[in-house]
Amino acid sequence: MEFAEQIKSAVDIVRVVGEYVRLKRSGAGPRYVGLCPFHTEKTGSFSVHSTHQFYKCFGCGAGGDVIKFVMEIERLTFWEALKYLAERHGIPLPKRTDLADAEARQRGGIFEMHDIAVKVFTDALFSSAGADARDYLKRRGLSKNSAEEFGLGLSDRGGQTLVRLFEKQGFAPDDMEASGLVLRRTDGSGFYDRFRGRLMFPIHSESGKVIGFGGRALGEGEEPKYLNSSETAIYRKSHVLYNLNRARKAIQEAGFSILVEGYMDVIGVYAAGVTNVVATCGTALTPFQVRSLRRHATELVLNFDPDTAGANATEKYIPVLLEEGMKLRILQLTGGLDPDEYIKEHGAAAYQDALRKAGGYFHWLADRARSRVDRNTPDGTVAIWQTLLPTIQKMPDKIMRLAVVDDLAEYMKMEKSVVLQEVRRSVSGRATQGVKRQEARPDPNEVLLLHALLDSPEARVEIVPVLRQPSVLQRFAARQIFEAVLRMVDAGETPTYSGIEARLTEPEKERLAALVFADDTLSQAFTVEQAVACIRTLAIGEREARRDDLRRRIKELERAGDLAGALHLMEELNEMRRD
Ligand code: CTP
Ligand code: MN
Repeated sequence: MEFAEQIKSAVDIVRVVGEYVRLKRSGAGPRYVGLCPFHTEKTGSFSVHSTHQFYKCFGCGAGGDVIKFVMEIERLTFWEALKYLAERHGIPLPKRTDLADAEARQRGGIFEMHDIAVKVFTDALFSSAGADARDYLKRRGLSKNSAEEFGLGLSDRGGQTLVRLFEKQGFAPDDMEASGLVLRRTDGSGFYDRFRGRLMFPIHSESGKVIGFGGRALGEGEEPKYLNSSETAIYRKSHVLYNLNRARKAIQEAGFSILVEGYMDVIGVYAAGVTNVVATCGTALTPFQVRSLRRHATELVLNFDPDTAGANATEKYIPVLLEEGMKLRILQLTGGLDPDEYIKEHGAAAYQDALRKAGGYFHWLADRARSRVDRNTPDGTVAIWQTLLPTIQKMPDKIMRLAVVDDLAEYMKMEKSVVLQEVRRSVSGRATQGVKRQEARPDPNEVLLLHALLDSPEARVEIVPVLRQPSVLQRFAARQIFEAVLRMVDAGETPTYSGIEARLTEPEKERLAALVFADDTLSQAFTVEQAVACIRTLAIGEREARRDDLRRRIKELERAGDLAGALHLMEELNEMRRD
């Protein structure tokens, strides 16, 4: 645990989260806000607190410290998250990392084998054995620079290189098999390399660790053209995007990402200076992947091959993207060229120009529908609308939907009111979207007191004794939070956000986050005097309230003829006056 604390104090959560989520500082305060990476939302409920070093989503409830964030976003175990943070911040790891469980140990081994494989592959590409492969790259116009930047390599034809190396380094056979880099012979007589005689494209996790490979055949007509890593403990195809590790900053800066079909497209586009580009790794696009793009920017340009397969994929992915709330444009390049080929033929500037001019997806859909039917007949027009309506229905945002209808009506030269009516009819059946959970409005006195307790030892000395007075805490909406503070003080600890949180139940954790994120003006410029005045008000107010309550009950008892009971309460009232 101590090491975890050391990591937390050395690492800034705003910077770590900022690598995955586009964060905006809210005013001059300690709060940063962005779109939650753990659920789909249109307005940012996801907050990061720079002083108390935690994150909280007021939409889906996700929250925690920097370690939890890394665990969730990178799907790492606790130990892996510590290791990850330690390595990136130059903090030496304690020797006892073998405390990690068996699963984490195996994953560690798989990561290591991938690192070894990258080195072996790249060395081979740039050795004499790689002459043919280097020729191939040259023919395809891929520079040495690009090859190095993307870590391209060459797997050996013999199929024994990795096996021998892994064995020599003492990896257990089970771990070797689990890496997916080597395969067990069907007769059980040992292993052979999965990738043989292929141009190797390493696939990285978002944080830049190698987790898999794509391998392209070098010979014409050799099948399969691409061989990809199998699913392993560190590689989940449906979650990974090729090049996101390099592209994410550029995506945040540009405000949009570009999705292309292939590894070669990514490299070609990237080399043309357009670096916010990613691809799936030979799988269909999933909502997970869309979300990982959406964390960085809500706009996307889809730029698939202009062949039938590419167009079908485009049509299939439009609803997937819209459902995740992405704004979408389609870039279809002319001349039947894929992005890589287009850049080779027309140059980087032409590609950038085409990218700027990429149109809305509904124009693309309309064009596609129009090419299929005769729109000069009324039936044709209806048919076009019928192909477009389902997509319009998928749009989560009403305003956006109306804008599209407007635009489409004009584009198709149709009467707007007719179109609107159609759309209204088809959309009205839709279930309404879930409402965002309300952020509870905490009491400003409690907000100020909590900050005083967390931030100021002087204020703490004054406040704590008052908090301990009987029945003071009962007045607090966030009573359990202040009780947790008292327990920490009792245990001789300095109250911290994470310390308090650890002592709370789930709903109270939510309340704590809401309290700490409440009004920045209260959390920043308070004086000890203010805090003391604040607690006095609460404490004295409490006494007043109890007196009123006693007086009311005395009257009731008198009216009911219970004089003994009334006298008893009067005594209590007199006691109170004395203190
Ligand atoms: N793909 C695959 N398996 C195949 C063919 C393709 O996994 N047998 C995936 C790869 O991720 C590939 C992408 O689909 O990058 C697009 O395929 P394609 O357009 O055929 O490949 P390119 O990347 O354009 O590569 P190249 O230019 O070398 O043909
Ligand atoms: Mn292609």
